[in-house]
Amino acid sequence: MATSKTDSTLNPLVSLFKSLGLTQAKALEAAKSPKSATVLQDLIEKHSLVGRTDEKQASLVVALAGQLSKSENVGEQERKYVIDKILEGDLKSVDQVTVATKYVEAHPVPVSEAEFNQECGIGFSISPEDVYDKVSAYIKDNVIVGWNSLGSVISGIRSTPELRWATPVEVKNAAEKVFTATFGPKENAKGKGKESKKEAPKAKAAAVPAVEASTPKKTVFEEGFLGNLHKPGENPQIAPHLRDAHLAATSGNVWTRFPPEPNGYLHIGHSKAIFVNFGYAAHHGGKCYLRYDDTNPEAEEVRYVESILEIIRWLGYEPWKITYSSDYFTELYELAVELIKRDKAYVCHCSQEEIKADRGGGHGQPKPCIHRDRPIEESLVEFENMKNGKYKPKEANLRMKQDLNDGNPQMWDLTAYRVLEKEHHRTHDKWKIYPTYDYTHCLVDSFENISHSLCTTEFIASRQSYEWLCDALEVYKPRQSEYGRLNIEGTVMSKRKILALVNEGFVNGWDDPRLYTLIALRRRGVPPGAIISFVSGLGVSTASSNIETARFEQTVRQYLENTAPRLLMVMNPLKVTIDNIPEDSVTIVEKPLHPKVPELGTCKIPFTRTIYIDAEDFRLEDSKDYFRLAPGKTVGLFQAPHPVTCTSYKTDPVSGKVVELICRLENTGAAKKPKAFIQWVAEHAPSGSPIIVDETRIFNRLFKSDNPSSDFRSDINPNSLEVVKGAMLEVGFLPLARRAMEEAKRESKTRTEAALKDAEPSAADDDTPHATSGQLIGNECVRFQGLRVGYFALDKDTRLACLDGGAEVKQQGDYLVLNRIVSLKEDSGKS
Ligand SMILES: *[C@@H]1O[C@H](CO)[C@@H](O)[C@H](O)[C@H]1NC(C)=O
Repeated sequence: MATSKTDSTLNPLVSLFKSLGLTQAKALEAAKSPKSATVLQDLIEKHSLVGRTDEKQASLVVALAGQLSKSENVGEQERKYVIDKILEGDLKSVDQVTVATKYVEAHPVPVSEAEFNQECGIGFSISPEDVYDKVSAYIKDNVIVGWNSLGSVISGIRSTPELRWATPVEVKNAAEKVFTATFGPKENAKGKGKESKKEAPKAKAAAVPAVEASTPKKTVFEEGFLGNLHKPGENPQIAPHLRDAHLAATSGNVWTRFPPEPNGYLHIGHSKAIFVNFGYAAHHGGKCYLRYDDTNPEAEEVRYVESILEIIRWLGYEPWKITYSSDYFTELYELAVELIKRDKAYVCHCSQEEIKADRGGGHGQPKPCIHRDRPIEESLVEFENMKNGKYKPKEANLRMKQDLNDGNPQMWDLTAYRVLEKEHHRTHDKWKIYPTYDYTHCLVDSFENISHSLCTTEFIASRQSYEWLCDALEVYKPRQSEYGRLNIEGTVMSKRKILALVNEGFVNGWDDPRLYTLIALRRRGVPPGAIISFVSGLGVSTASSNIETARFEQTVRQYLENTAPRLLMVMNPLKVTIDNIPEDSVTIVEKPLHPKVPELGTCKIPFTRTIYIDAEDFRLEDSKDYFRLAPGKTVGLFQAPHPVTCTSYKTDPVSGKVVELICRLENTGAAKKPKAFIQWVAEHAPSGSPIIVDETRIFNRLFKSDNPSSDFRSDINPNSLEVVKGAMLEVGFLPLARRAMEEAKRESKTRTEAALKDAEPSAADDDTPHATSGQLIGNECVRFQGLRVGYFALDKDTRLACLDGGAEVKQQGDYLVLNRIVSLKEDSGKS
């Protein structure tokens, strides 16, 4: 509830409270309620608290005072007991302080410390795995119909004694995970046509819940393509002992791998491969490798290697082991010698033209080349010569002796090894010969005991040579299965084209938020969960999908709808003076950060005589179907105590533009209920309001057409980036930003510690990247909805002292840049 009081009358208390370490805004707030302010003053004096608390502890003392003003029976010694627990850092949250106060009220001194600690969750810790298990058990034991019950399930779980003190976000994540496994992805459960309610000023008596399917939905891993995959061990082998040894090594579990070539940044298409490989393994309690497929020494770069791991982790997955194809160069070489000895490979000196001609130039069956039947000994010597640098590139190749009578060109004596005079990023100049993809991929899958080698349908024809080679060498033969790839329309994903866009200045780097590389989507603020939800929602089948960017954005919007806190934001500020409010009056308004998600908490903002609204919410001409501000018209202000009516306005004498509105606060109850509500921010220097946004970057589509062709340069949309300067944000933003970053850091720490603990030591050397906490944290973790404006995230160009522990006000030297993640509704072209 809002109360009104001027700063000045509270001043002595405010400065006392500030000396505890509270910010101006919080001190003001604490002084607001006379009853708890008196208790607080008393606590500070009796326990000489000045200078002994940091900001966090100070706010806990404020909470204690609030609690004590309600619990009259807590004696002096009991108060001291709780204060000491705050000062010692044992009590860390308002929730704990509340429970502590109630406890000492019921159990006066001497307090049983052990019982007190247990009751208040002091020293409580639980691993994310345990949270997950407890949550699964809870959900199993209760009748739950579907996603609509998520909120009540979470609060139910949080009231169980075991999870009473678990981190709320951990409980929420675990519950969502179990729900996804049980009922399928969240958006599948949602009704259609909810969009129109987006702008509703106040959630009209909560929407009727959509009818929920009561049969649990199978997940993408249990049906269709992934549901039909073989069980580990069911893939045929050339000799039975290979299966036995394989199953012994894997204990019959699913082992997969994600094998990117480290020659570029991953794009959204790769998120499907990541989801399929990591997700399928995780679903079956198996393991997934990250394997850098680095057989081509020319293309690899260290920055790509690091970025790939970072993006996988950002998407929520942890590789079991990180390997490189080049880890196996020696084994691969030895098997090549073995292949020659088995008369299944030969060294060929034909030119590329001759090989092409022999292969029928694309028409008809191939002819054997003149080297195909040379003696085994000769090939062994020549292969050794290749290895020792006798040949220049293209002068000699090791070719597999496959089946020239087969209809599949992938069986026509593919190259296994070629000479390349290039340094490799890891093996340096050790090798002059390098294995090809066709030779390497299946063998490394075999070495790593992959149970399911999942790839896209372009590799269907390669499956035959994959199996041929494993059988020719009599090694364990994984089963390759192919699913359809994911294409996004309206953008380019080829490395060459993106490179051209970057080099020619059409975009500002590989992480320019207009691109669909994963680093770009991340920077733009797209939550990793939205990407997973998008991919999983599309399903996995053998058909490739061509998806419009609009559909992707719609998934992001749906994902953010119930996860992003909502703030008041004004893009094009227009000053409003409310002339029936005194100069120095300030009303502190406490408002929920999300009307339907109370767990997101609340924030406090000032309401004063001078506010700003969006220039678009005012018109000189009124009309019947217009409900916002115009001369003589009344409009509601979101969460403000009363509506305002425009009584007059001022114009710029030169341009004639309206520069200020004069309004009247309708605080007498006489005005009618307003038909519309608009966003606003107040001017109030003591609390740092409003916060000025230095740049708001609005991204529109980069290309005009859905299929940017080879001539993609001429297809560029000249208005793909708009930069708005001087937008205004409510003061709730800074505490929110700080909290989001702290939460991200905490989560990242937990995840990274777990990842490092679980990681198998890699066979590779020290420059193999590994999990670090920094990989998961970035400004983009700060996301919110600007009410009626759009979804935003903090850009990496931002500098905010408050994120590094500074006070929660915008400071000299700060530079605030926001990216629009998505608009609130699909752009129709007009507004
Ligand atoms: C794969 O399985 C074989 C037995 O078939 C075992 O000797 C080998 O150590 C396993 N390799 C890995 C990387 O697990």
